[in-house]
Amino acid sequence: MPDPILELSNVTKTFGGLTAVNDVGFQVRRGEIFGVAGPNGSGKSTMFNCITGIPFGPTRGDIRFKGAPIHNLRPHQIFRRGLSRTFQKDAEFPDLSARETTALGAHFAAGLRGGAMRDATEEALDLVGFDPVRRDMETADLSVYQKKQLMIASALVTRPDILMLDEPASGLTRPEIAELDALLLRVNRHGVTILIIEHVLGLLLSVSQRLLVLNHGAVLMEGDPQTVIRDDRVVEAYIGGATV
Ligand SMILES: Nc1ncnc2c1ncn2[C@@H]1O[C@H](COP(=O)(O)OP(=O)(O)OP(=O)(O)O)[C@@H](O)[C@H]1O
Ligand SMILES: [Mg+2]
Repeated sequence: MPDPILELSNVTKTFGGLTAVNDVGFQVRRGEIFGVAGPNGSGKSTMFNCITGIPFGPTRGDIRFKGAPIHNLRPHQIFRRGLSRTFQKDAEFPDLSARETTALGAHFAAGLRGGAMRDATEEALDLVGFDPVRRDMETADLSVYQKKQLMIASALVTRPDILMLDEPASGLTRPEIAELDALLLRVNRHGVTILIIEHVLGLLLSVSQRLLVLNHGAVLMEGDPQTVIRDDRVVEAYIGGATV
């Protein structure tokens, strides 16, 4: 594979007797949007946790980022190397404005101050298309979509090489999902590799260049999104999951 930015080999995560991620291996190419799908409980978020070390790394296996192993590093060390993520459950600081929230990330995560902090903040808010007239509004007064934009801006403010998103479309309306689609493509064109978990398949298939499907913690299939999503085993995993 030409220039993999992220490589997982034999990654396993167990919780007591439960194997949440089971011997997973795949590679993400620099510059692509790589989609991750799978039924509820198939191990998608746990796999993201293993990669970022938040709150834990893998039980076994090898994870390389830009050619160097990261599975034994602390979360802040992984993050400083250029890997940033958002969470399935949105976190927010309701009393802070969008500008202040994003600046917090620039300051504490990237160590920026003064003009450099303000520039990184405006750059990240511009990149996600955040309305300039709302940047000083309290976060609590923002719409669901604006909170998503802010969450992504906060992850981008450190200028990561790779952005990992866990179900960013949850809770959004159809027009908002179309806006998110354009946002992701814009961020990707800006040079950021994207790894995205998403249940909204329309969005996932629209943005992803390749797709990985997990089932019961293991890789069920990986490849061209349209081919993968039509595969009998993938259809069965989704329908089987939905009827249980
Ligand atoms: N901290 C934990 N302790 C124990 N079990 C866990 C923990 N985190 C996840 N699990 C279990 O691991 C399995 C995979 O969960 P995970 O959250 O990774 O699934 P998912 O694919 O992200 O699901 P969803 O689509 O619903 O978000 C589930 O059986 C879940 O209950
Ligand atoms: Mg999840």
